[in-house]
Amino acid sequence: MNLQNTAFSDIPDPQITGIPDITDIEFEKFRKLIYELAGVSMNDSKKSLIRGRLLRRIRYYGFKSYKEYYKLIQEPTAEAKEELHILVDLLTTHETYFFREPEHFKYLAEYLTLHKKDLREFNVWIAASSSGEEAYTAAMVIHDILGDDIPWSIEASDVSRGIIEIAASGLYPLERADKIPEQYLKKYCRKGVKSMEGLFKISNVLMNRITFKQINLIEEIPLRTNFDLVFLRNVMIYFNQETKKTVVSHIAERMKPGAILIVGHSESLNGLNTGLKWIKQSVYQKV
Ligand SMILES: C[S@@+](CC[C@H](N)C(=O)[O-])C[C@H]1O[C@@H](n2cnc3c(N)ncnc32)[C@H](O)[C@@H]1O
Repeated sequence: MNLQNTAFSDIPDPQITGIPDITDIEFEKFRKLIYELAGVSMNDSKKSLIRGRLLRRIRYYGFKSYKEYYKLIQEPTAEAKEELHILVDLLTTHETYFFREPEHFKYLAEYLTLHKKDLREFNVWIAASSSGEEAYTAAMVIHDILGDDIPWSIEASDVSRGIIEIAASGLYPLERADKIPEQYLKKYCRKGVKSMEGLFKISNVLMNRITFKQINLIEEIPLRTNFDLVFLRNVMIYFNQETKKTVVSHIAERMKPGAILIVGHSESLNGLNTGLKWIKQSVYQKV
């Protein structure tokens, strides 16, 4: 789900907002902060993004400048700690949709069909799940093939606490269903009525298999499961080479030998020396 599109309007004009434009020094401070908090690298072209996304918070507090907001989040208080979560929610980009990069789900279906007879369990980690569409898409494909014959589970995580809450609700506006194939829509989605009109809900058959958690990939991973499959899609584009290396090594530690890692189509592990074997474009295996 693209929260930015729904939650924000145009880049603010300081003349209209009455709040002076973000200065280079202020931009530098927020850029450093989001790098430290989530590993997200922002170049100079992201100045308007930071300016636009933080403006709501400045208005919310009735501040007169970005500097005042920065001062608030530096304070050693519970309020500042809470505000840092909101800042991470706002400065990370959550663009996602059901069946995004569908070749990966075709690959998953082929993999499961081929290996079903040998599987005793199948544990998946969706490592930057955003608002959940990727996790529920994987769940539809997995349940359709494995059903309840083999124990399977999905851990879905994201650094953004706010987006994980949205994901865990399993509730989406009806227009978000347009990429879900008809057979899955019928089997795994329930259309809202009355107060839920205009929404659909993911069925409990899938919800019961998925656990959502806030996890920061640049920190030690608080998961004990060793996974058979990990999705790490469309998040490395926000990381520099050093951060990518840290994140992929954290992920690889949680993969079983032989497990598969899927990255976004525009991403690769080139130059990271991860020890993971290239299988085909955007698909890797732990040897
Ligand atoms: C563009 S979305 C991709 C969502 C989904 N994987 C997909 O491909 O559709 C990137 C997600 O990565 C998350 N993210 C950014 N930095 C992260 C970090 N350090 N740890 C975990 N998630 C992170 C963001 O919050 C965001 O939800």
